[in-house]
Amino acid sequence: MSRIAYVNGRYVPHGSARVHIEDRGYQFADAVYEVIGIADGRFLDEDPHLDRLARSLEELRIAWPIERRALKFVLHEVARRNLVRHGLVYFQVSRGVARRDYGFPKNAKPALVVTCKHTAPPSPETGPGVAVISTPDLRWKRVDIKTTGLLGGALGKQKARENGAFEAWQVDEKGFVTEGTSSNAWIVTAEGELVTRPLGNDILAGVTRGTVAKVAATLQLKLTERPFTIAEAQRAREAFMTSATSFVTPIVRIDGKAVGEGKPGDTARRLRAEYFRAVSETAPFL
Ligand code: PDD
Repeated sequence: MSRIAYVNGRYVPHGSARVHIEDRGYQFADAVYEVIGIADGRFLDEDPHLDRLARSLEELRIAWPIERRALKFVLHEVARRNLVRHGLVYFQVSRGVARRDYGFPKNAKPALVVTCKHTAPPSPETGPGVAVISTPDLRWKRVDIKTTGLLGGALGKQKARENGAFEAWQVDEKGFVTEGTSSNAWIVTAEGELVTRPLGNDILAGVTRGTVAKVAATLQLKLTERPFTIAEAQRAREAFMTSATSFVTPIVRIDGKAVGEGKPGDTARRLRAEYFRAVSETAPFL
């Protein structure tokens, strides 16, 4: 089966999907995006992802390319045409095509691109956990806006791969972890307190982070939003990451040092299982 993408009103074969060379997403990273996980034919946390898209667009004063309801329809349609039962949908909105000039163009039309990807069925169990490394946070000062300007994250992820790790935890100038290159960062202290960095301009408000915080409350876990360092994370009982594609994934090594007993802990295990329970309450589209 050939893959289908959606580009500005048309469903087209993935291999021949094109945007113009003067699309501002291409020239200025003047574009925002979202990734929604799909499991068992369900879009996970679809509305919070669309809410975040709305905020990103508003922050950059980019108009919706099509109405929210139409966008939902297109997302489902792309997943349906590609028969994605488990995987993800990726969509991005750029300010559109215009002659290269830093200021906003007057008449550009926002451009919408949607693709999707198959993955193995996600498991509510954690698996063996992953390793992370630390790296300086090289990104700009508004990473709360989910733009396609991802070079800082790409460099961090590449460094992780070259060091046999799955993710890189980015560290700010004061030595505190901001977030992963494409995930939020969490620890569980020796006292059993859940810790993650508070929202601000220096991290993305992860949709999974929000859902996991709610799930933690239902499990009566104490959550404190404060920054933490790599040294504190290495001494923690547990560490884990959250994102639309990793859900809740335990971190068992940080810069080569085992976290806790070097295997997934109970808190991450429970949060992942409860997260899947919480997000499987929506109706499937397939
Ligand atoms: N990334 N922080 C950053 C920098 C991210 O890029 C992401 C998601 C997250 C987690 O957000 P959420 O829970 O809403 O997925 C945190 C997506 C998955 C990506 O770029 O592929």
